[in-house]
Amino acid sequence: MNILVINGPNLNMLGIREPDLYGKEDYAALVALVEETCAQEGIQVEVFQSNHEGAIVDKIQGAYGKFDGIVINPAAYTHTSVAILDALKAVSLPAVEVHISDVSQREDFRQVSYAGMACIKTYMGLGLEGYRQAILSLKAHLQNH
Ligand code: DQA
Repeated sequence: MNILVINGPNLNMLGIREPDLYGKEDYAALVALVEETCAQEGIQVEVFQSNHEGAIVDKIQGAYGKFDGIVINPAAYTHTSVAILDALKAVSLPAVEVHISDVSQREDFRQVSYAGMACIKTYMGLGLEGYRQAILSLKAHLQNH
């Protein structure tokens, strides 16, 4: 099993960026948690972060035929990017959406998730633990399909 974890804009600023919302752990800690979880679960993983919408679209397209599934936190592009939604639909790989904060309790403009429309499940408000849950849920889905 080979999965791709994608993180969108400003997630590289974890630890510095709004710690009350996103916690004090930095991006390296997030990558370590993902890699440790995948190693424990016998999953191969690549972790990708970009601040650029087109780079994320390119990465999703490149996942076709290469990865079995995707965990994605599109960050602010969650609420704006039809291009990321269309890319997820184009490759048709099972995808799980993660948000560190509980977006359901935040501003109105965060209440729509385009990428989420192409995802089998969403985890939000669990902090970095949400990535672990997303990986476990993607693994279970891949084993059952
Ligand atoms: C986020 C929530 C988004 O609304 C925000 O733009 C982010 C991070 C989260 O992980 O909670 O950058 O995706």
